[in-house]
Amino acid sequence: MKIVFTASEAAPFIKTGGLGDVAEALPSALSSIKGNEVILFLPFYSKIKNNPNIPTEFIKSFSVDLSWRKQHVGLFKYKSRKKKLSVYFIDNEYYFKRDSEYGQGDDGERFAYYSKAVLESLVQIGITPDVIHCNDWQTALIPIFLHAFYQDELGTAKTVFTIHNIEYQGLCDPYFLGDTLGLGEEYRNKLTYGDCINFMKGAILESDAVTTVSKTYAGEIKYPYFAHGLSPVIEEHAFKLDGVVNGINPALNDPSSDSALTVNYSVKNFADGKRKNKIALQEALGLPVDPDVPMIGMVSRIVSHKGFELICDIARELLKENVQLVILGTGDRAFEDILKKIASSNKSKFSLNLCFDSKLASKIYASSDIYLMPSKSEPCGLSQLIAMRYGTVPVVNATGGLKDTVEPFDGKKNGTGFNFQSFNRDDLLDALHRCLDVYRNDKASWNIIVKNAMSYDSSWDKPAKEYMEIYNRLVD
Ligand code: GLC
Repeated sequence: MKIVFTASEAAPFIKTGGLGDVAEALPSALSSIKGNEVILFLPFYSKIKNNPNIPTEFIKSFSVDLSWRKQHVGLFKYKSRKKKLSVYFIDNEYYFKRDSEYGQGDDGERFAYYSKAVLESLVQIGITPDVIHCNDWQTALIPIFLHAFYQDELGTAKTVFTIHNIEYQGLCDPYFLGDTLGLGEEYRNKLTYGDCINFMKGAILESDAVTTVSKTYAGEIKYPYFAHGLSPVIEEHAFKLDGVVNGINPALNDPSSDSALTVNYSVKNFADGKRKNKIALQEALGLPVDPDVPMIGMVSRIVSHKGFELICDIARELLKENVQLVILGTGDRAFEDILKKIASSNKSKFSLNLCFDSKLASKIYASSDIYLMPSKSEPCGLSQLIAMRYGTVPVVNATGGLKDTVEPFDGKKNGTGFNFQSFNRDDLLDALHRCLDVYRNDKASWNIIVKNAMSYDSSWDKPAKEYMEIYNRLVD
């Protein structure tokens, strides 16, 4: 099967969040399935273009129309030896030579351009894919443009649209429809939601299949609390909505080979391995060295939807106990300021690291006993999967992918973590106490939970197969 995968970011080329990880791993997993050929498209942001470690060759140049605009497209291809996975970059310095990838005033036009350029590139290089897999609002116009402008050349291609986060929908003024997208009035209803042109709504209506990154989130976004206004649209199109939980790259998230760790370890010797890492991290962060104190870790954006209201609320109470709390990340100033105050009066128990540091992240995953992730909503979440690989027991809000990937400990031999069912401080504290109780008083059960967590299959094999089932259903 010929699969075109397109997103606004993909590691290792460019990554700002979880989408970047998925757009690296999933195309690669799909390309290793026999009979598949995968083509990944990305914008040629200056960070990619100027990176000497990303060798590319120029393929050709042409133009695309955005209504009255005629815009240049330079098509570049990543030089790689992989036969079944090719990567193309769409070059246009007017749109992509910027100091950041998102958050520009003309993002709507930039990604409308990108979406049209992807389709035009396929025509120019003579590829008719079986499936075009689009991700999030930045590529949401592809199904619409395919329908409106590329029926003759690419009309047989089926489209899949994956929602990684329904919060960002791609909103523009009503005049955008004709003036930028070059679409006729017959598309207005399809693309209008409230007073705006809404790219994501368009993709939900026009795609052959819609997916999101966990089964639970697929159910949740039918409700207003989770859907940021789009619940009626989701509900109406629930017949073509599926949930496929993400994986992580097992080679990149492996405590037995991660070079950032003080000592490597596996499921066979985790107790000793985690203990040594914990001692080293306590020394490095200036915390009292004590391998027996339960260390609670978080590597997260410090924002509301990751549950930081609750963290700020419970921190002082939690820190009265014999625990250590280690947080790494950046985010909203208001939360950062509250946490700074709490940290300054709890220096021996709380290490707050307001930065991004991937080596420190690895050390926290490896050294902590408990991984805290009380997200208000979580389409899938990747950190709980990484934590489990490192034998760190997750305590999570039972929402979205957190519910689907963290199996609550049943008091006997089953489970990989602990969860709470309702987003509030007392339920979170209660879940933490249930977890701490096992850690402190029942080492045998604790070791079983850690082993279960480390053995959880978070590889991409299963999700890649599930996506293939969806593609096959459409193509048949
Ligand atoms: C978004 C979601 C996150 C998910 C990621 C990859 O960042 O917020 O839950 O894991 O996309 O799908």
